[in-house]
Amino acid sequence: MFSKDTQILLCISSNVSEQENIRNLINGDRNCVFVKSEREALALLKSRLRPSLILLDLDYPGNDYFTLFSRLKSDPVLENTPVIILIPEDSGKEAFFLTIGAADVIRKPLAQEVLNRRIDNVINSQYVNDYLITKMYSYRDSLAEEHKKLVIYTKQIIKSLSSAIDAKDTYTNGHSVRVAEYACEIAEAMGYDDKMLEIIYQAGLLHDIGKIGVSDTVLRKPGELNEKEMAAIRQHPIIGHEILSSITEIPLISYGARWHHERYDGKGYPDGLKGEEIPLIPRIICVADAYDAMTSNRSYRRQLSPLEAREEILRNCGTQFDPEIGKIAASIIEKNISGEISFKNRETTFTSIFSPSNNKALYA
Ligand SMILES: [Fe+2]
Repeated sequence: MFSKDTQILLCISSNVSEQENIRNLINGDRNCVFVKSEREALALLKSRLRPSLILLDLDYPGNDYFTLFSRLKSDPVLENTPVIILIPEDSGKEAFFLTIGAADVIRKPLAQEVLNRRIDNVINSQYVNDYLITKMYSYRDSLAEEHKKLVIYTKQIIKSLSSAIDAKDTYTNGHSVRVAEYACEIAEAMGYDDKMLEIIYQAGLLHDIGKIGVSDTVLRKPGELNEKEMAAIRQHPIIGHEILSSITEIPLISYGARWHHERYDGKGYPDGLKGEEIPLIPRIICVADAYDAMTSNRSYRRQLSPLEAREEILRNCGTQFDPEIGKIAASIIEKNISGEISFKNRETTFTSIFSPSNNKALYA
């Protein structure tokens, strides 16, 4: 199957007459190198000899078969090199060596045709194996590269969508990114792992996506909204949830859109959920959203300082906000004001939820 000119057979046998016997039996078109011991074999390997196959002759007394074989298989250079073991006629070790990884075991006396055919079989199998492994690594690398591009592309689409939302409402430029980042700060302080933080980040970016379905006139109205306009605004969580429900792989992302205007006391909208009936992600986004709204410049009300917004959050713990999440947010804001921590830019940090191995249990 493959050229024998490039094949090197390394034969380890301490018995000189057996070496001679093997030399005579192996077909002349093979390159054979004979050594008397494992030490000599390893010295040869250090000189960059790369055999296609090792023939290990165990037909001599006092040899520690298992140790010798194990050393050969644990050598980093040799671990994938097939080993054929030649055993005495009366040895009962055939099954044992096959079990621990010998490519083949040949019982003596050696017959020329059988020996050469079995060497052929082992070398051919090894070539096919090596070829498949090389191909597999090559496909894996190109898949990883394609996956990396897809992750960047997906993140760019989500970012573009969040920019489109913010562009609709002139008063909320950059709001979605800030809400995503604040929500992540809170979730991180609550001890959630990177995978969860990434879901919260994406949910934060898209929490107001339903505003795409609300008229610009209502969204951009500088003054107080009338009842009808308020009803239109209150539709955006439902519209957003419908838009994001098509992301079936990560359903938690749509939760942020649907329930970020619910209140802990049950007086929010659109579903009037109360306490922990409201899923965790929207409970976190709700605080982040309120903090950004309070500290941003809007025409219809005065911009609050971070300290004032912190007090407002604490004042509304247990009514508007989940008390635990509100207190954690207040602590983060306090540390941010004092310079102890700064809010991180997480835009490029996440990749795991787009990984094929993402944890479905998270989304149950
Ligand atoms: Fe909203």
